Amino acid sequence: MKTSDIRIKFLKFFESKGHTILPSSSLIPTNDQTLLFTNSGMVQFKDIFTGHETSNYKSVTTAQRCFRAGGKHNDLENVGYTARHHTFFEMLGNFSFGEYFKKEAIHYAWELLTSVYKIPKDKLLVTVYYDDNEAYDIWNKEIGLNQSSIIRIGDNKGSKYASDNFWQMADVGPCGPCSEIFYDHGPNVDGGPPGSDNSDGDRYVEIWNLVFMQFYIDVNGNITNLMTPCIDTGMGLERIAAVLQGVHSNYDIDLFKNLIKSSARMVNIDDLSNSSLKVIADHIRATAFLIVDGVLPANDGRGYVLRRIIRRALRHAYKLGENKVFLHKLIPDLIQEMGTAYPEIISGSNLIVRVLKQEEERFIETLSNGMKILNNNLNHMKSGDMLSGDILFNLYDTYGFPADLTADVCREQNISVDIDSFELEMSKQRDKARLAGKFKNLNNQINYYDGPATIFDGYKIFDLSAKVVAIYSKGKFVNSIVMEDSADIVLDRTPFYAESGGQVGDKGFLISDISNFRVNNTTLHSNVFMHHGYLESGSIRVGDILRASIDIDNRKNISRNHSATHIMHKALRTVLGTHALQKGSLVDSERIRFDFSHDFPVSIDQIKEVEKISNEEILSNSLVNISNMDYCDAISIGAIAVFSEKYENSVRVVNIGSSLELCCGTHVNRTGDIGFLKIISESSVSAGIRRIDAVTGNNTLRLIQDQQDIFLRLSSSLNTNISNITTKVDGQINYIKNIEKKIYLLEKNIANVIVDNFAIDKIKFIKDIGILISIVHGLEHNVLCNIVDSMKSRFQKTIVLLASVSSNGKVNVVCGISNAITNLINAKDIISLVLTKINGKGGGRNNMATGSGYNDKKLPDILDNIFGFIKEKI
Ligand code: ALA
Repeated sequence: MKTSDIRIKFLKFFESKGHTILPSSSLIPTNDQTLLFTNSGMVQFKDIFTGHETSNYKSVTTAQRCFRAGGKHNDLENVGYTARHHTFFEMLGNFSFGEYFKKEAIHYAWELLTSVYKIPKDKLLVTVYYDDNEAYDIWNKEIGLNQSSIIRIGDNKGSKYASDNFWQMADVGPCGPCSEIFYDHGPNVDGGPPGSDNSDGDRYVEIWNLVFMQFYIDVNGNITNLMTPCIDTGMGLERIAAVLQGVHSNYDIDLFKNLIKSSARMVNIDDLSNSSLKVIADHIRATAFLIVDGVLPANDGRGYVLRRIIRRALRHAYKLGENKVFLHKLIPDLIQEMGTAYPEIISGSNLIVRVLKQEEERFIETLSNGMKILNNNLNHMKSGDMLSGDILFNLYDTYGFPADLTADVCREQNISVDIDSFELEMSKQRDKARLAGKFKNLNNQINYYDGPATIFDGYKIFDLSAKVVAIYSKGKFVNSIVMEDSADIVLDRTPFYAESGGQVGDKGFLISDISNFRVNNTTLHSNVFMHHGYLESGSIRVGDILRASIDIDNRKNISRNHSATHIMHKALRTVLGTHALQKGSLVDSERIRFDFSHDFPVSIDQIKEVEKISNEEILSNSLVNISNMDYCDAISIGAIAVFSEKYENSVRVVNIGSSLELCCGTHVNRTGDIGFLKIISESSVSAGIRRIDAVTGNNTLRLIQDQQDIFLRLSSSLNTNISNITTKVDGQINYIKNIEKKIYLLEKNIANVIVDNFAIDKIKFIKDIGILISIVHGLEHNVLCNIVDSMKSRFQKTIVLLASVSSNGKVNVVCGISNAITNLINAKDIISLVLTKINGKGGGRNNMATGSGYNDKKLPDILDNIFGFIKEKI
């Protein structure tokens, strides 16, 4: 059965059992800051499991693209060395939001595996959490598995719930006991059953995990019950494909075999079993999907994971003898394999190729330099040795060769690395934004209220009465606050829009008869709105009823900018092409910052065209239509889903002029409310991403007025009318250039005159060297240098030292020496001798040096001494 058929059969099976098929969400989780990547099918449903959101569907099924490198579930180190680890993979899953639980989940799984996929029953065995008797009995009594095929797994990782059979999405989040289904590849393959000492082998392979999601684990490790027990299952597509295609390794399935062949062709080797080819085949999928989902190589966070993977792929190619860039050339082969299931890699192929190529080119030289040095060191070592932290650090610090790559190379030769010493060195200059630390900190800082979701009424209502349900102040939840306290207040309902989708949070006031709380910002944490601010007067207690009023003018400006963003997005795609998709935005009351994918700078004419189209939409003054509809319906009518937005089953579709986007933000009623859109700048953010800044409404008026003021001031200073300013300025620039030329010649002439008429008497000769040491008054630095030049052109061998004292006591010194005698004495030494005496600073070359300081009284003595110094030297 082909991999693509397996995927479809899974989804159709669960559809026949009443599940709705939903699309895969992005690899970048939209509803969870604490999670680096979407690591399983349940991530997009997390808020439904916790009860913070309700679902329109009781049960759903998906084929979800997943990523496990970085964060809690990290398989990167294993890729290439085992038969079934990947960074990127697809997870097939069925989910129940309170409709069914253990019994049905187990029966469905069994039916699909044995009746649809037709796996012989005696090839399957299962595990259950050690005290989950209910699951045990279902397998034993209802399914009929005998006791030897049901293995209880306890807390084997040192603490309660730290078990292979207790699943957690991340350190914080929904979790529960699980039952895993294993396939026995037969006695010819090495490995023992789950729970045994030899369970790491490849004989028994976990193919499906049924999670009985019933708990929530908080940041302190406390476990509470979820409101409704749910089901979350996950079956790795590549693993089940291996089983159904009768192969032992995921890398032998149809999809991977082809990618491995392409990789071998690219690096020019014949041995298809080489494990480096597996690494490359895995990593080309991972990198392409990360880039298409909006990740770009960077030194921290997700971008760093992408960078590591690209580098690891290059390193494995290097091992195979390839030391040129190649990875990006595999994209057409990837599209061949996966383009039908994921059309986004077809439409995003230009971006993927460009980003990969650029990153490869950046690293390839570092790679070969670093590998040479590392190999030199490894040549003197043997299996079991440890590479010192110094070498690890030196490779990283001097050659830019990443420590994880060094460790990867060493691991292949059974050489460990002294990571502790390396870390010690690193801690001295550690980049604060390092991946692991960053996300851990984020976890520790979570302080959100874990109660019911706040009701948001603020699309139409700007002022309402609401009850205080929680107050967070000075690092903890409190019952009350008093005047001058800063706090985060949670209400049962609110008109305040919370920062999301690029739109900033609302400002305003929470007021009662006795108190006044100023809200500076509003943010969202799992559907709970936090009003951040400061109690200006009175006191507030949990349970109080307050009037919540947003700053309406501020909101109106924000909404203008947000609606204009949609119009501009559409116009950009019309002018530049449909690839110009939003990659990020910031919409506040002052301006719009809009990032989008595009290869080249946007020309002035293109900007003007975007402005024209956008303002035509605004002038048409059409009504803005907002409706809620099913996600799939919205996509089918052409709505644009921006990657950073949240995709739920029921989505909010915003239609402004000819633009149609999924969006939760606030908007104007009619396009005319935007006023006038003006783009103020265009710039580059990173490879393939451009940024536009723009303004609307009153802000555009202010911009035009400010610019008009500048024009008026210019026209008055230049004594011309506004339309003539550019001609006049061009004329002035030419005039200044001419004057500069004249000054240049004049300074040269002055220098010649000084030398001919005044200096000539002061020149002293030692042997054939003409020496001029003199104090002059009021001469500019340029003139001093010209005097030196003039002297050099008159005498073949000369030493000139001039000190000019200006009226404020500042001393400028210049020393010039003919090239013919710089072997005897040099200008830098002379200048530094002078400077030490006059507290000055300066420098230069052997034949010319300058400086300045402040002690003019001692100058005659100093210069006398210098003459002595020169005499000695020559
Ligand atoms: N969420 C579960 C897993 O990833 C199904 O294994």
